[in-house]
Amino acid sequence: MTRRLGIDLGGSAIKAGVVDVTDGTLVSEVTTRPTPQPATPELVAAAVSELVADHPECTGAVGFAFPSVVTFGVARTAANVDHAWIGCNGSQLILQHTGRRCGFLNDADAAGMAEMRFGAGRGVKGTVLTLTLGTGIGSAMFTDGLLWPNTELGHLEIQGVEAEHHASARVRSAEHLDWDAWALRVNEVLDAYHKLLWPDLYIISGGVTENWEIFGPKLRAGSPIRPAALRQHAGVVGAAVYAAEQGE
Ligand code: BGC
Repeated sequence: MTRRLGIDLGGSAIKAGVVDVTDGTLVSEVTTRPTPQPATPELVAAAVSELVADHPECTGAVGFAFPSVVTFGVARTAANVDHAWIGCNGSQLILQHTGRRCGFLNDADAAGMAEMRFGAGRGVKGTVLTLTLGTGIGSAMFTDGLLWPNTELGHLEIQGVEAEHHASARVRSAEHLDWDAWALRVNEVLDAYHKLLWPDLYIISGGVTENWEIFGPKLRAGSPIRPAALRQHAGVVGAAVYAAEQGE
């Protein structure tokens, strides 16, 4: 049984848990630290070090799911984190702070990978678009299970506004939208995505899916929509899987 520590940085908390990467199950409790404000590389790395220390039983590389474009271990954007991240090599930073090798990847790609492997997208062929509705809107696109990384569809402009400024879970709270009003906005986003990409299936993840029974039935798109099966832990699971697959 291969186990890896998966870490996922969200708008309010960083979470870490040990994952059996052969079946995607969490085999430890998930520990958390508040996301530092500002979320600079140094402060985030210090929090990650504490999270690694919470799980001494799990040695080997760690996976770190992070909310920016990541190419070759380097963060390229910083929509909801400190701008000092741009150009920062996250893999090296975490190695320096923890002594552990690190698979560093986009958070929505991590969550999507977990859902495709172990959750709502398991065994699904064709094109699947997984969307994470949280502080921003994260996207991950798969064709026959293969990821096209860093799709960043949360920044697509819809009615002159970036999708994530129109319909993220943060916007729902900030603008005190009721479920009907928010679902309408999410539907506008899904409609724009559908016109461009024609996915065969949508999978929606993020903490807000705890309320799926309330808003899920209100969502409409050109293809079926499923809630994520791993719910709020998809990012942690996907990060751990990524660390293992890097041969780390
Ligand atoms: C970022 C993405 C991220 C998403 C969800 C967006 O603002 O640009 O990289 O996946 O938020 O956290």
